[in-house]
Amino acid sequence: MKILTILGSPRRKGNTAAVLARFERLAAAEHSVERINITDYEVRGCLGCDSCFKNLEEPGCKQKDDGVALLERILAADVVIYASPLYCWSYSAQLKALLDRHYCLVKWQEGQKAAALMQGKTAALLVTCGDAVENNADTIQIEFEREMEYLGCRVLGKYIVPHCTLPKALGEKAARTAQEMFADLQAMS
Ligand SMILES: Cc1cc2nc3c(=O)[nH]c(=O)nc-3n(C[C@H](O)[C@H](O)[C@H](O)COP(=O)(O)O)c2cc1C
Repeated sequence: MKILTILGSPRRKGNTAAVLARFERLAAAEHSVERINITDYEVRGCLGCDSCFKNLEEPGCKQKDDGVALLERILAADVVIYASPLYCWSYSAQLKALLDRHYCLVKWQEGQKAAALMQGKTAALLVTCGDAVENNADTIQIEFEREMEYLGCRVLGKYIVPHCTLPKALGEKAARTAQEMFADLQAMS
């Protein structure tokens, strides 16, 4: 399978990257794995112009940044892993911009859903955060479920690593989460 991971943290060697890299190492033994480091790219916010709805086959977004190229890489994958540090109870702003730009992947015409370009793909959420899951990393999971349902994706899982301090202190927690993600992936494939 083609697995695309998206690191939504600006910290290349941070907590999210540490867990994601462990998962990527496990997955790469059996699958093709590619990573997007979101801060390598310029992705502006969605303009809400709806001009993308005219094109049913492609993203069709008219913005001239890196957003469309990233969406095309997403469309070429079987499984997409969205990885983010928890920023103010949600995604990092960089990843949120890309997730908003997924708007062009579901096409509406005359009040009807005319196409859903991610339909049938599998997606997973990986989040690291400083505090607990309860009353903190709960709403991001609801946001993710809701957006993936809208896009027509199956959710492999939502993997939250709470109480993170430094990447080197993650130890067993990172290994356990990566193993859990990989086991779920293998059970599905
Ligand atoms: C702008 C900002 C907002 C944050 N908001 C939260 C939060 O709402 N809840 C939480 O538990 N941790 C929060 N944190 C801590 C990070 O989620 C945590 O340190 C995370 O593991 C960082 O991941 P990274 O090293 O991959 O960037 C915040 C950190 C920053 C920089």
